[in-house]
Amino acid sequence: AATGHDVLGIDVDAGKVEAYRRDIIPGYEPGLSDLVHEALTRGKLRFMHTDEVAESLGEVVLVTTGTPVTDAGTVDLSQVESALFWIKGKQPGESVITMKSTVPPGTGVRLVETVLRDTSLKYVSNPEFLREGQAVQDWFHPDRIVIGRADDQAMNVIEALYDGIEAPKMITDITSAEMIKYASNAFLATKISFINEIAALCDRLGATIDDVSRGIALDPRISSSFLGAGMGYGGSCFPKDVRALDQLASTNNHDFELLRSVITVNNRQRLLPLYALRERFGTLSGVRVSVLGVAFKPNTDDVREAPSLDLIRALVSEGAQVSAFDPKAMPAARSVVPTSVHLASDPLECADSAQAIVLVTEWPEIVNADWEEIAGRSRPPRFLFDGRNALDPRRMRAYGFDYQGVGRAKVRSAGDRLQVGIQ
Ligand code: UGA
Repeated sequence: AATGHDVLGIDVDAGKVEAYRRDIIPGYEPGLSDLVHEALTRGKLRFMHTDEVAESLGEVVLVTTGTPVTDAGTVDLSQVESALFWIKGKQPGESVITMKSTVPPGTGVRLVETVLRDTSLKYVSNPEFLREGQAVQDWFHPDRIVIGRADDQAMNVIEALYDGIEAPKMITDITSAEMIKYASNAFLATKISFINEIAALCDRLGATIDDVSRGIALDPRISSSFLGAGMGYGGSCFPKDVRALDQLASTNNHDFELLRSVITVNNRQRLLPLYALRERFGTLSGVRVSVLGVAFKPNTDDVREAPSLDLIRALVSEGAQVSAFDPKAMPAARSVVPTSVHLASDPLECADSAQAIVLVTEWPEIVNADWEEIAGRSRPPRFLFDGRNALDPRRMRAYGFDYQGVGRAKVRSAGDRLQVGIQ
């Protein structure tokens, strides 16, 4: 809508539709609220429940439904399929169905041959690479636009959709476009698990992961992104997509060993603070632990597959007294953490009388909190596990914390690292 298109947002959830109509965005996504408000005011954006839609669906129909993964790792496509049947029922002529939902490679071709067989609807795969917390910025400045299509007729319409947005466009077949999406997420997840394995070795051999990451990132073939060691990846995308790709490989008679290791390493990373706490305290029964950060990453209130949840549940089941804080995710956390967990209103309150503190999400509100005051409010032994390597170890030790990071056994302060760089 902000680039001039007339947009109709359609959903089966009447509550969600009503909220959007009243300019209330469910969830926290920086900048989205302003965009929606502006488009509503300019009349470029409307919202409707599926039952209310009586008008034509327009030239482009973007499908953005969920594609959850079952416990077995298979992708549940029921929402996508019912959306397509609904679209078909609206007799939209030659509209271009643009699949933004992440569907396993092979899905689009199957949908074209089955659900859409008796229609003149066009189908393109146009995978989404937005990151939560930066979605608005990523929409206007994508690093690529990937379009998978069966024939060229739909292309002009899709080109017009992205008019004014500068990015390399890649045109391919439908299945390759779907694979680009999965391969991108799986590769990034692999980078994270790889650096976490190197961090484990750094801890054992006395190296410092911060320097190692920076050192390898100087090779442009490696690049610096997604080399942050810590409690691993979470969220609604990486865990689900990596599991789905592994499952898809095995149903197609390929053993994707590498991906299974990526998953195993990631599951282990989430519980690193638990192992460290057990080592430090012996039993965790009655130990007061403060968990700082619940969202799966900063700048979002999303707690889906957040590493914090596995940690909190394990701590509670071992008898620890847990308090937790997140700048935005407290409402979401309430329904998913055990009721015994105290939900604090700020980092200081969260740390009250804590014997151990675990930093799980590197929100600025947490990293830049008054750590001297936090130390003052906490209790010995003041064990501090920095699950994202976001704090300065020397400063934390000066405040009296027993600091431990991930792969930072020998870490020096930021100043020392600078000297290493100058030499
Ligand atoms: C990810 C991709 O980055 C997007 O390109 C993609 O569109 C999206 O999934 C999707 O498939 O919808 P997102 O899940 O929002 O985006 O989050 P990321 O910023 O990629 O972070 C994922 C996880 O990896 C977070 O838990 C983060 O803490 C972790 N991470 C990230 C690390 O542990 N280390 C790093 O160096 C970077």
